[in-house]
Amino acid sequence: MKRSIPELQQSAQALVMVTAYDYPGARHAEAAGVDLILVGDSLGNVVLGYDSTAPVTLADMIHHGRAVRRGAKDTFLVVDLPFGTYHTGTHDAMRAAVRVIQETGADAVKMEGASPEILEVVGTLTRNGVPVMGHVGLTPQTATAQGGLKVQGKDDEGARRILDGALALEQAGAFAVVLETVPARLARLVSERLGVPTIGIGAGVHCDGQVLVTHDLLGVYEGEEKKIAKRYAEVGRTSREAIEAYAREVRAREFPRKDNSFVMKDEVLDKLY
Ligand code: KIV
Ligand code: NA
Repeated sequence: MKRSIPELQQSAQALVMVTAYDYPGARHAEAAGVDLILVGDSLGNVVLGYDSTAPVTLADMIHHGRAVRRGAKDTFLVVDLPFGTYHTGTHDAMRAAVRVIQETGADAVKMEGASPEILEVVGTLTRNGVPVMGHVGLTPQTATAQGGLKVQGKDDEGARRILDGALALEQAGAFAVVLETVPARLARLVSERLGVPTIGIGAGVHCDGQVLVTHDLLGVYEGEEKKIAKRYAEVGRTSREAIEAYAREVRAREFPRKDNSFVMKDEVLDKLY
């Protein structure tokens, strides 16, 4: 059963959010019983092969969001607004959000940052019935301006900005706030101060929920584990080994087997000779 925003906000247990980008990923997440699915613009990195989220378009998010919704009809679905779609004024942001909600069936949108401009957008959207999840700390869409993909809020000025930003997002109407790559003690303080749930990634264990990029937790890419993620499977290795086994059998003429093949009657075949 899909949980409502008040149910999510009052959850006694830590909230579980994972990303999904396609139909099978959504099926798996829903079958696993997660509380929220995020169609993250991490799509750009883990699915589309870009080296940042900046090239991801609204059309990309809608295309993948629709596939996810088809695979997860009964899970609360959040779709990221991509870079550039909510930075040119509240009117454009509202249009982008309405397209996402109408065309994907998402329950909410997420956007990064807590500048005065973003807060105005969050206020306008929430007042007009579009639930918004906020996102502070490391904000990958503007990571270049943040000095790269690194921990945010380590000094008092940065920490203050994150705390005040999260509080302002709640004031503006956000129903939850993602805290990405911030010190665990700062995330704990923000979580205590906020009335709405915090959802952490690289933000310690004291957030009200956790989110991971599914490709990280599945180990879709072989190689080093990221500091902020735990790998619960080795899907990349399993996938590569399966394709290698298939290739070996094709070359050895061991696949397809008899069981994989279709038969016809001898007399039908005889007529062809
Ligand atoms: O795009 C994404 O996957 C995200 C999560 C990491 C929060 O924004
Ligand atoms: Na994102």
